[in-house]
Amino acid sequence: MLTSETIHPDKGGTLTLNEGGWQIGAILAVDLREDAYYFRGENATLMLQPVNAAVVRVKLLPDHREDKATTIAVQSEAFVPVASQLAEELECYRLMLPAITVEIRKQNAALAFYTAEGELVSDEAGIYRSGRGQYGCRKRMEPDSHVYGLGEKTGFLDKKGEKYDMWNSDVFDPHVPEIEALYVSIPFLLHFRYDKPAYGIFLDNPGRCAFDMRSDQESYTFQTTSGTIDYYFVHGPELKDVIRGYSRLTGTMDLPPAWAIGYHQSRYSYMSQEEVLTLARTFRDKQIPCDVIYLDIHYMDEYRVFTFDPVRFPKPEAMIAELKEMGIRIVPIVDPGVKKDPEYAPYQEGIRNDYFCRKLEGEIFIGNVWPGASAFPDFTDEYVRTWWGELHRYYTDLGIHGVWNDMNEPAVFNDSKTMDLDVVHRNDGSPKTHRELHNLYGMLMSMATQQGLKRQLNGERPFVLTRAGYAGIQKYAATWTGDNRSFWEHLAMSIPMVLNLGLSGQPFAGPDIGGFAHHTSPELLARWTQAGAFFPYCRNHSVLESIRQEPWAFGPEIEDICRTYIRLRYRLLPYLYTLFHEAHETGLPVMRPLILEYPGDRNVYNCCDQFLVGQDLLVAPILRPSTEYRTVYLPAGEWVDFWSGEHLEGGRHAMAYAPLAKMPMYVRAGAVIAELREETWKPVLNAEAQVALVIRAAQAGTRATGRWYEDDASTYAYEQGAYNLLEVVSAFDPGAVSLQLRYLSKGLPGRRETVAVEVNDLNFSPNQVLVVTPEEDATLESHGGSWSFDAEASTLRLVLPSTFEDIKIRAEA
Ligand code: GLC
Repeated sequence: MLTSETIHPDKGGTLTLNEGGWQIGAILAVDLREDAYYFRGENATLMLQPVNAAVVRVKLLPDHREDKATTIAVQSEAFVPVASQLAEELECYRLMLPAITVEIRKQNAALAFYTAEGELVSDEAGIYRSGRGQYGCRKRMEPDSHVYGLGEKTGFLDKKGEKYDMWNSDVFDPHVPEIEALYVSIPFLLHFRYDKPAYGIFLDNPGRCAFDMRSDQESYTFQTTSGTIDYYFVHGPELKDVIRGYSRLTGTMDLPPAWAIGYHQSRYSYMSQEEVLTLARTFRDKQIPCDVIYLDIHYMDEYRVFTFDPVRFPKPEAMIAELKEMGIRIVPIVDPGVKKDPEYAPYQEGIRNDYFCRKLEGEIFIGNVWPGASAFPDFTDEYVRTWWGELHRYYTDLGIHGVWNDMNEPAVFNDSKTMDLDVVHRNDGSPKTHRELHNLYGMLMSMATQQGLKRQLNGERPFVLTRAGYAGIQKYAATWTGDNRSFWEHLAMSIPMVLNLGLSGQPFAGPDIGGFAHHTSPELLARWTQAGAFFPYCRNHSVLESIRQEPWAFGPEIEDICRTYIRLRYRLLPYLYTLFHEAHETGLPVMRPLILEYPGDRNVYNCCDQFLVGQDLLVAPILRPSTEYRTVYLPAGEWVDFWSGEHLEGGRHAMAYAPLAKMPMYVRAGAVIAELREETWKPVLNAEAQVALVIRAAQAGTRATGRWYEDDASTYAYEQGAYNLLEVVSAFDPGAVSLQLRYLSKGLPGRRETVAVEVNDLNFSPNQVLVVTPEEDATLESHGGSWSFDAEASTLRLVLPSTFEDIKIRAEA
């Protein structure tokens, strides 16, 4: 426990650098080499490297030495040839890219960024230094600036007024607003102003950095403590463009296997094979969907990774096979610490082949973690990553397709809570200290894990979950937000945390549902499961000795609520999976803050007690106990209450009634949502799954566009185009509804014979359904389709033969 000694005047605070006077100085010369411009200042050189039409890299070269190296987070393919031009004026240079112009002031090398049309987007005071390797950059902030992103942080959505450190940390303390660093560090900031171009800053430095939006009202800073300033300016103009630009730079996620977006159940720990099997049977008996059960550290033989405890788990293979029959998979935990045990093969191999992290003097770094004294693989070397990946054959040979990486900040049970900073990582031939590379360690472990699993799974997609990460982590793993607590405050905080992770390029994230530490309550579990069912990553997990929090732990009422919402997630899996595909293609998040879809609406700049799933589903969880009402902000447009079907006018706050069994949810009228037709608790998204494109009718004049993505849900064949992507445009007129269905890709033409569409809440009875062509309209029936109208439910059901490429349909009164 902390005492007042924590604030003893002799104790240093957190990272605040002092802007000591040093600057780059006046620019004495400029030269262009290959694709980069070097502005030679009195005290240092500033490199500006165009990355693409709308992204420019800015790197400080303190000793003037050219160095274009990036971290592994940046994709080399992101750099494309760009037409750029440099102009010299009396007081500045202007570097012109197709979408941005950078002004470089001769006097002090400070930069200003403009749109191609000349609108000022970002201005700065320049780069300063306050110590060895300690550089900062101060950029202007306006009264109406809003700041988003910055990865996994506590607090609300808008980060203006906050200050954060980037230093991957194992934080078991309650995650309160003043915690400046958590497990994942993504030094990517999005800057937004109403009606002005948005931009992003990605500071590519995996050492300790700080972002300070608090200390000054008119500017923010980002600062390093090692290495140098190396950042990317990502032009918008929309926030979505900034996310797309950042995602091109650091990569997008692979599509997860469909089972990985189902419901997951975990506990520290399910203690035996029998307990795991009983758990799985209980899910099936109770018809609660579940795709994954986790094995926490007790499955191992004295916490040795790549082993099973022979007493608790005597027959892992049989257990895994039996679970497979039930359609449930196992995801075991794998930590980086390898037990120092001369009789244990991974330790022996690591020592013999020099795979572990060492100090410059040669001594292997040994730290205490769950297995006691342990060595840590040096994942910065490719051959170590390959070795580590290969070790996973132990799991894949047993039928395991997913792995949970924990403690990979790395967490160590010592004063600094991590690896000694003077460890020297080999870093593929470019040695750097742990101090310089700390934030990369966890991501490189997950990269090694994912690549190993990929090699072993014969074309099946693996699933990796990680606690630690850096920019680009989305390419290798999903993240959960670490050791939260069973506090209502942590349920509320999980929304902005995961929203900002999504804005920072990591779409696949979620908290421990029910809360990890402390003890959940029946009501909290119900409310958390309702909300959690709509987070991209959906796992219930709880700490050793906490009261049980499986969905049935609190009797039939709570169990029913959990069942309903987990099933609802499964019903909406086709919609969710389509959003994961969009995240794979573009980097746009699955779970979105309202600001992303409604940037012109001043009511939503810090709105984070409700969220959107994609564009069209609005979720407004209850975040406090004993609460049956809440206000919901409905953005402009028409919304349909998911439960009652009531149509509501947007652009206002509405009062929602939400007794315990109900979480307020709304669908945008006219939107096209791919849903499973039948309610199911079994693993789905196979070719037999009955999917319908469900549309809630909208007022005349409304048009909406939706998509439905399908592939084999498990292999990488989609990378070769083996998928169907159907775009549907709905348009409502008085007494008529028109639909255009067009395959944007039809790489799996034989997957289905028919496509089903449902239009709910129609305010007229259709008399005919026509296929509209430029030549002549014909009935749907004559095209091999059929339709019916359920007058009681006001629902029009269409069945179309899936042979079309592009078809227009009109139902008329
Ligand atoms: C860490 C993880 C937690 C896990 C525990 C035991 O605290 O964050 O999820 O259950 O270690 O492995």
